[in-house]
Amino acid sequence: MGLVFLICWVSYNMHLMRYLRPFFIPLCVSYFLYRMVNVYTNDVKSMTILDHVILVLKMENFDNFKCPMLLQFLGDLAGLLVVFGICNLLLSLWKIKWLGMKGDVVSTVYNLIKVLPAVQNELQKEREKLREGVEKDLKVKSRNISENVTALPSKGMASKKVLDLMLKCSGSENKMWQDGKCSGAVYHGDDDHKVVLNQAFGMYSLANPLHADVFPSLVKFESEIVSMVATLVGGDIGVRGCTTSGGTESIILAIKAHRDYYRDNHGIKNPELICCVTAHAAVDKACDLMDIKLIKINANPETYQADPYLFEKAIGPNTIMMYGSAPSFPQGTIDPIQDLAKLAVKYSIGLHVDCCLGGFVLPFMKKLGYEVPPFDFSVKGVSSMSVDTHKYGFALKGTSVVLYSNAPLRQCQYFCYPDWTGGLYTTPTIAGSRSGGMIAQCWASMMSIGEEGYMAAVEQIVVTTRKIADEIQKIKGIKTIGGTQAMIVCITSTDNGPNIYKIGDAMTKKGWSLNSLQNPASIHLCVTKCHIGKEKTFLKDLKDSIALASKDQSTGGNAGIYGMTSALPPGPVGELLQEYNDSVLAQ
Ligand SMILES: Cc1ncc(COP(=O)(O)O)c(C=O)c1O
Repeated sequence: MGLVFLICWVSYNMHLMRYLRPFFIPLCVSYFLYRMVNVYTNDVKSMTILDHVILVLKMENFDNFKCPMLLQFLGDLAGLLVVFGICNLLLSLWKIKWLGMKGDVVSTVYNLIKVLPAVQNELQKEREKLREGVEKDLKVKSRNISENVTALPSKGMASKKVLDLMLKCSGSENKMWQDGKCSGAVYHGDDDHKVVLNQAFGMYSLANPLHADVFPSLVKFESEIVSMVATLVGGDIGVRGCTTSGGTESIILAIKAHRDYYRDNHGIKNPELICCVTAHAAVDKACDLMDIKLIKINANPETYQADPYLFEKAIGPNTIMMYGSAPSFPQGTIDPIQDLAKLAVKYSIGLHVDCCLGGFVLPFMKKLGYEVPPFDFSVKGVSSMSVDTHKYGFALKGTSVVLYSNAPLRQCQYFCYPDWTGGLYTTPTIAGSRSGGMIAQCWASMMSIGEEGYMAAVEQIVVTTRKIADEIQKIKGIKTIGGTQAMIVCITSTDNGPNIYKIGDAMTKKGWSLNSLQNPASIHLCVTKCHIGKEKTFLKDLKDSIALASKDQSTGGNAGIYGMTSALPPGPVGELLQEYNDSVLAQ
């Protein structure tokens, strides 16, 4: 009898045994019937489960215990509850992340001690330092542009004057990316293309796709953007999608869709999502917004890819989806999507592929003959993808596409509110009103560049990336990590090399804007069309920066910031990030 309940309990709680769950109720019913018949015919010792539990707890002998049938039934029920309760308690103890508790303890201690005046003083000093840094590096520049404005001008300025002012600001600001000195940020930038995008935007700048009846051409453009992107990433006729404002929104929506789908179809009320630590922070944002438990898995220390073995170990009864990147933002590695997809099929859970960077690169690399591991809807088990048209799709900032392997999943993305006093309300994305101009210029970008245009751009981008990565291997003091599979060159110091953040700081002084990364300490260049032909300048500046960093004894810059934050628990670092936002948003 104990064994029967043990099997039932295991089948109910362990994901691996989920296929036994359908047998649980029939097994219980059969067992009760069997007991009732036995009690009725009175030919067994009628001990209830509660009797057994009491027996175990009290270590007494209840051998000849007998009771009427109803009591027997109630005893069984009570016993079952106790057994399940104890088992669940043990299970939850087993499931506690004891290592993760270190972080909780540190945060609790921090919350307790941060009220102390000495700690407050230290924090205040750090905040002021940060504010001064933002003031010096950013705010001064932004204030020098023109007079500060704090209220509406009583009389409108002449539009020519407004535009002249803006032209003066943007002209000098655009120089940095035009010189190919920004990592990512601007992905195309050619004047001819910009004119097409701006004209397309202008024609639809007042349009709002929320009013589909008023702007039917936008409806056509949006559905065609989705179809073109779906075809690009191996989508079949069943794939559905929608345009969004960017990669982050696409990711939030994909996670919402999975949350609602697994709640409505599988009864999962406390959803969990598994991703690698290299996944874009948009996943953290989505899980924070929707109160979804995020399980983060360490990357393979050699390849920086997600580890399917560790993913499988983390799958539980509440897992709704896994998340892979193709490629990831930090090191630019392509996760083993095929292996993750096998897990998704095996456990009937979702798999999102973050193809925000790779959507308009990997398909063309494949066509150009580069080795690209399977990463898209051609892999069975991939349930959603995000592809950013505003990155390598060369559209203006503010567009991305989220795709689903089937229509019911996309339906779970929508927000529908039938009871609003303002009328029947529904929107497909997070925004209410959306910009028709963004959809129009995105369609114009894809139509005007076409397959040939993207192939040519991707070929040059990949050649540039690999040239840079190959040359870095020859430079003493630094090395690349992550394998440079697509368009990201991630650089770290060798054991005897100078601090990588100091190298980054020296690059900043030479006019570069690279990305600083952590765990491991590194910097990266996301190669775009703007870097084609600029590789020699980059490599020369990098070599000079290594020489400068070797001699640099200062404690400021990114080297100082990352040095300080790596020694602090997440609490105060989060507060400093709040301070950063406050400083940037301040007048
Ligand atoms: C891999 C990846 N995913 C998601 C995002 C988020 O995209 P967005 O900044 O458009 O919201 C980025 C942005 O760089 C990214 O590189």
